[in-house]
Amino acid sequence: MIGIICAIPDEIAYFKDLHIQKQSQIAKFTFFEGEIANKKVIIVESGMGKVNATIITTLLIQKFNCNFIIFSGVAGGLDPSLKVKDIVIAQNIIQYDYGLIRNKEFETYQAGYLPFYMPTDEIGYKLKDSLLNKIKICLNNIEINYGTILTGDQFIHCPEKRKELFEKYKAQAVEMEGAAVAQVAESFNVDWLIIRALSDLAGEDSSFDFINFLKETASLAAKIVCKIIEK
Ligand code: ADE
Repeated sequence: MIGIICAIPDEIAYFKDLHIQKQSQIAKFTFFEGEIANKKVIIVESGMGKVNATIITTLLIQKFNCNFIIFSGVAGGLDPSLKVKDIVIAQNIIQYDYGLIRNKEFETYQAGYLPFYMPTDEIGYKLKDSLLNKIKICLNNIEINYGTILTGDQFIHCPEKRKELFEKYKAQAVEMEGAAVAQVAESFNVDWLIIRALSDLAGEDSSFDFINFLKETASLAAKIVCKIIEK
């Protein structure tokens, strides 16, 4: 079973138009079961932020036996070469708000570890090479940016912060759930994939752009998810 997570109603809207066969409720969350290209999927709106994403990823794996978790939604662009409506697939995803404050400076560490020594060579969660290769083949006729996505419990609406994040991590996009999904999935040895369309550029226009482009960009990401599942 493939689990598809969206954070907010506009991100899940496209999937709700697909044929839904069954729905069930756990706590405040509704899980919609259906099929995309004859493959069983379960789609759920998690709400925003890392805690909601963690609850839902765990439930999809433990209660619904999902062996592949996909996040479909929007993000803020960080890389100045990207624009609203571009698609980013995470090749690496980092919880950039996890770490240590030393001498008034914030240092990012690998999430879940004591932030005095680095337990991994690189920070973040990497998309499996075998999965990345399959996805590149199946999306070869669509322009996709494969790169680094940052996850944190903050909506970025600040040109200075956007610049700082790009310079520090060379990341393409920022959002609020993906790395939590990856962390949980990896804990259970389950594959994950984070697909985001840029709804805004995380700068001073970001809340205006987010509202204006949310519907359109959320469905761009959802269409890519359907294409991957179809193929
Ligand atoms: N999701 C969409 N736009 C975002 C932004 N600017 N910051 C964080 N998450 C986002």
